[in-house]
Amino acid sequence: MNYRHAYHAGNFADVMKHAILALVVASLKRKDTPFFALDTHAGIGAYDLEADEAGKTGEYMGGIARLLEAGTPPEELQAYLAVIRSWNSDGNLRRYPGSPELMRGLMRPQDRMALVELHPKDVEVLRSRFHGDRRVGVHHLDGYLAAKGLLPPAERRGLVLMDPPFEVKDEFQRLLAALRRARKLWPTGIYLVWYPIKGAEPVARFHEALAQDGGPETLAVELMLRPALDPFRLNGSGMLIINPPWQLRDSLAPLMPWLVGVLAPEQGSARSETIVGETP
Ligand SMILES: C[S@@+](CC[C@H](N)C(=O)[O-])C[C@H]1O[C@@H](n2cnc3c(N)ncnc32)[C@H](O)[C@@H]1O
Repeated sequence: MNYRHAYHAGNFADVMKHAILALVVASLKRKDTPFFALDTHAGIGAYDLEADEAGKTGEYMGGIARLLEAGTPPEELQAYLAVIRSWNSDGNLRRYPGSPELMRGLMRPQDRMALVELHPKDVEVLRSRFHGDRRVGVHHLDGYLAAKGLLPPAERRGLVLMDPPFEVKDEFQRLLAALRRARKLWPTGIYLVWYPIKGAEPVARFHEALAQDGGPETLAVELMLRPALDPFRLNGSGMLIINPPWQLRDSLAPLMPWLVGVLAPEQGSARSETIVGETP
């Protein structure tokens, strides 16, 4: 377990992932009934952008820093940006909330969240961070196996975020297997699954396997920094959305081109592909 998200926090992939997460949460909040969120690879919850790790790579400068400098973000980004601003209330970008703190910033008193993290030190950071918040459970488990004890939730509505580090060769296969297990337990949940786009081939195989599995509507949304020509670089960021909420496509339509214009104005692009289900 060598992956440390602190080097990458707030980069273009985090921005895309978290902007979509915030949109899905907004749609869940349209009803008063509680929702449940499971974060299978939670990280430490929030990141210090002035620390050595973030400073060394400077990745956030090509991500969240650009968003905050850009003029007039679309309506679809407001909830996400409001949480980012609440973490940097003096107007200087110093901290970036990871998925756990972003979710906490968006949840209501009636909602609930389970955070799963395997790294022994990171899980302790999460525990102390969320200590006393009765809505949040922190679990020291393998995120790929966590579904068994945590799904389906009593609330019967909500989301699962799967955001693995992709540090092992067979991560796409492990992800697929975990997804299949989770979906058996909770077929109606919304699944948000992040994946890196380095070469085009592994992504195409992943999409093919999902298409063969069939099931509910499945959308793949991708933001490319550049064409996927060099398979050793992170050329783009992908998010699978299974059971996308009603109207999510309408929200993504203005959001993704705007993000491309800000994050990858020269060689960037965005696309949205229906992997399973009807193209509207
Ligand atoms: C990409 S980071 C998560 C970032 C977080 N979701 C966010 O958006 O702020 C991946 C995390 O997964 C953890 N991890 C790695 N393997 C894991 C596993 N099998 N189960 C749970 N967590 C794991 C790593 O320690 C790391 O903190």
